[in-house]
Amino acid sequence: MKGVIADTAHESATRNLYIETYGCAMNLADSEVVASIMATKGFKTTDDIQEADVVFVNTCSIRDNAEAHVWGRLREIKHQKKTNPGMIVGVLGCMAERLKTQFLEKEQIIDIVVGPDAYRDIPRLIEQVEDGQKAMNVLLSREETYAEIVPVRLSSNGVSAYISIMRGCDNMCSFCVVPFTRGRERSREPESIIKEAQELYNQGYKEVTLLGQNVDSYKMENEQNEVVFTFAQLLEKVAQIAPDLRVRFTSSHPKDITDEVLYTIKKYDNICNYIHYPMQSGNTRVLNMMNRTYDRDWFKMRLDKIREVIPDCGISTDIITGFCTETEEEHQDTLTMFDYGKFDFAFMYKYSERPGTLAARRYADDIPEEVKGRRLTEIIDLQHRNSIIKNTSEIGKTHIVLIEGESKKSELDAKGRNDQNKIVIFPIENYKKGQYVKVLIERVTITSLIGRIVEEVKF
Ligand code: SAH
Ligand code: SF4
Ligand code: F3S
Repeated sequence: MKGVIADTAHESATRNLYIETYGCAMNLADSEVVASIMATKGFKTTDDIQEADVVFVNTCSIRDNAEAHVWGRLREIKHQKKTNPGMIVGVLGCMAERLKTQFLEKEQIIDIVVGPDAYRDIPRLIEQVEDGQKAMNVLLSREETYAEIVPVRLSSNGVSAYISIMRGCDNMCSFCVVPFTRGRERSREPESIIKEAQELYNQGYKEVTLLGQNVDSYKMENEQNEVVFTFAQLLEKVAQIAPDLRVRFTSSHPKDITDEVLYTIKKYDNICNYIHYPMQSGNTRVLNMMNRTYDRDWFKMRLDKIREVIPDCGISTDIITGFCTETEEEHQDTLTMFDYGKFDFAFMYKYSERPGTLAARRYADDIPEEVKGRRLTEIIDLQHRNSIIKNTSEIGKTHIVLIEGESKKSELDAKGRNDQNKIVIFPIENYKKGQYVKVLIERVTITSLIGRIVEEVKF
């Protein structure tokens, strides 16, 4: 089966695919693979659901509210289907994997359910629906990486693109549904990754983000199961494509990020000085219950190491508040780690019990909603204070920014990011997206730096 899709001549596009994506960057990258698979069957993507022959919703299961949102959306799509009864509706992604037949049972409008490793089967599933049946494939795979499928870049700005380098996760953090929805961890062959990055660069892209749930466990092994190619080596290869191709990656697991990776970032100017470094909790007992396999001291020690090797590294984190049995003192430990970490950005969540996970089976979800909420607010407030202090310290400095397009608020302003992944806004003047410019920072908000261009940066 592998290879067939890339080799098939694209049928002329006669039907429309509307695809809506929820969840993480991996899902966005997957939707681009799905669009590519559908293109071989004569489907072109449309932004208008009204004119769609097929509607796909690529879903996320990470928290209950992510799932609730999708159910709400499906109810809206149900109304749409009334005006267009021939429309085929499919659910893809992590919720499809988790809930399987429940979708077909609960929601009459759904024709197809496809899990993250079964996208190559979509054309056959569509044919099955056209024959009047419901169709489902939620088989997980130990090998599938969609390596040779060239993604159709959906809603891309033409400057930055995602490249999926691995799939699945073997970590079994006790709160997390991902190992159940995405299966075992596997790495994609380096040649196909480097080729994809090179092709993107040839097309004018200036930034690639290498994606995996835990990029530091990316590896290629020989027949004796010895590691012969690491994530650091992959980073280096991609960085060598061109000095004006920025390389980013996400996510790193604190237990796994190696010194080799840190020194590779340091060695190459075009590997961005930015690490997403999810902490989850600042307390050792809670981290232990979460099965994160590091403790507070380890997290701190590795944070120090990042700052020692890459002093100006941007660091962001993820936090879960109100995990099972978390006490007030343990919550304070998270706050003190936030103060210590001085993160540039944080994704902050209330714990949401996911059925089937280790935590759901072993521990009661016993922190009341209002306590979770109050703790979350305390963390958010602290993070905002830290962000403002950090951002304010950038006033008067210059940053090299890759222009990604217009800012949301004004077409006279450009939006881009600096090396540390911070959003920078400035008058666009006569510059174009895809150019690198040096920007002098004059003002800041919690989330962005605002300034003006001093000069263009040439490579
Ligand atoms: N692979 C990444 C995280 C992927 S999920 C890593 O290991 O860091 C993204 C974030 O969602 C996690 O870092 C975590 O903070 C959050 N998350 C995952 N499961 C959750 C749950 N059950 N409740 C609340 N937040 C959760
Ligand atoms: Fe989930 Fe942990 Fe894997 Fe991240 S490392 S995807 S949190 S199980
Ligand atoms: Fe959500 Fe699946 Fe990503 S659960 S966060 S879409 S891996």
